[in-house]
Amino acid sequence: MPEESAAPTTGTSTTSAPVATIATIGQYEGRSVTLRGWLYNSRESGKLLFPIFRDGTGTIQGVAHVKSVAPRVFEDLKNLTQESSVIVAGKVRADKRAPGGYELDVEDVAVVQRVPESDPYPITPKEHGVDFLMERRHLWVRSPRQSAILRIRAEIMRAAAEFFDSNGFIRTDPPILTPAACEGTSTLFPVDYFGDPAYLTQSGQLYIESTALALGKVYSFGPTFRAEKSKTRRHLTEFWMIEPEVAYCDLDGLMELAENHLSHIVQSVLRNRAAELETIGRDKSKLETIKPPFPRLRYDEAVERLNEAHKRGELEQPFEYGNDFGSPDETWLSAQYDRPVMVHRYPAEVKAFYMEPDPADPRWALCVDVLAPEGYGEIVGGSQRVSSFELLSRRIEQHHLPMEAFQWYLDLRRYGSVPHAGYGMGIERAVAWICGLEHVRETIPFARMLHRMYP
Ligand code: 4AD
Ligand code: MG
Repeated sequence: MPEESAAPTTGTSTTSAPVATIATIGQYEGRSVTLRGWLYNSRESGKLLFPIFRDGTGTIQGVAHVKSVAPRVFEDLKNLTQESSVIVAGKVRADKRAPGGYELDVEDVAVVQRVPESDPYPITPKEHGVDFLMERRHLWVRSPRQSAILRIRAEIMRAAAEFFDSNGFIRTDPPILTPAACEGTSTLFPVDYFGDPAYLTQSGQLYIESTALALGKVYSFGPTFRAEKSKTRRHLTEFWMIEPEVAYCDLDGLMELAENHLSHIVQSVLRNRAAELETIGRDKSKLETIKPPFPRLRYDEAVERLNEAHKRGELEQPFEYGNDFGSPDETWLSAQYDRPVMVHRYPAEVKAFYMEPDPADPRWALCVDVLAPEGYGEIVGGSQRVSSFELLSRRIEQHHLPMEAFQWYLDLRRYGSVPHAGYGMGIERAVAWICGLEHVRETIPFARMLHRMYP
């Protein structure tokens, strides 16, 4: 059944044909519809006009012959400028050669706002540099490619939350204004909180450890902030993170959760956003393999492979045992598999204060980083959490964290402490990988980066 709603009777509508959207216009084949959108581009060939319209759901080519429409309609169409807003009436016709499978034989047009020639739309169909486009991000999002990426992003976020919602998790969102650090003190954005210092959150983890001990399985989903002065293609200063936290969960349980979660997200995108993947030219065969189980690799084994790769000349720098992986290391590692690889048990000293040491050997932390394939690097980071009161107090001291601010967090180990674990997945890193993008700046509507705060 076509979803019908009457065309607007006020303002600029000229017809009574039902309002359709381009994505589902096939339902109206052979009938007249109203489209509300913008002129994306146009072509002219003598007495024929080929305006291409977009409406946010897709693009469709219109056809108007000088003899098939009223002279006023032909003139209006002929004079349309790029990105002028229009309401168009026309008959839907199937055409195998058309990109979406349909064309529109234009019957009528009402111009809502005509972009003047004296101040034309700045993003023309020719190539522009990335800086030029980022400076005009508020308009760039209209391009078919950018729109497709934002649609895929929305599906990734929907599926990411759906997975938890349908598996017994309760969403408990933590505060964004916090009194202390979670992921290291050097990377905080300070805020003046009525004369006292506060910080924008780096992760909701500490707070959802509390709600996990209240509700069992929880997750949070919101913006997080990192002030590190990193200028890589993977870093944003503001990004979205989805974080599950589970009481009575160990590292193995956490890895199983992560591989099922990521597989669900990728399979949902393949199912629900196939057209958009097509639009951006993503090789879908690279996504179809994303199913559990994912390979698991100890940090030590990963280091061995990196050193072998260095000896073969595939990596410039030798890897120094005990370090966190650098970008080139992650890129190389993640390029070795056709699905994400889960690197676990890093040396405890390079990892966060809250990570539980391996009872088999406390030099290692019970943690996991999931590296996306095709060289995309870390998209998920998580761990089992320290559950002993004594050890956690010691760690807070050793890391020179303010003991007072962490008293509530220590309470979680004073009153009914249990083994528990969780991870954070960065949405933008996931979008970059699933869309096959070079840089995270195109994965979020308005990127915040070291040198970008506008628009
Ligand atoms: O590895 P991270 O720093 O882990 C945490 O914040 C934990 N407290 C999460 C937890 O256990 N609940 O960050 C988690 C993920 C990374 O794997 C990455 O995908 C993303 O967040 N991320 C960033 N994304 C974009 N820009 C940045 N600057 C990011 N920093 C981390
Ligand atoms: Mg990490």
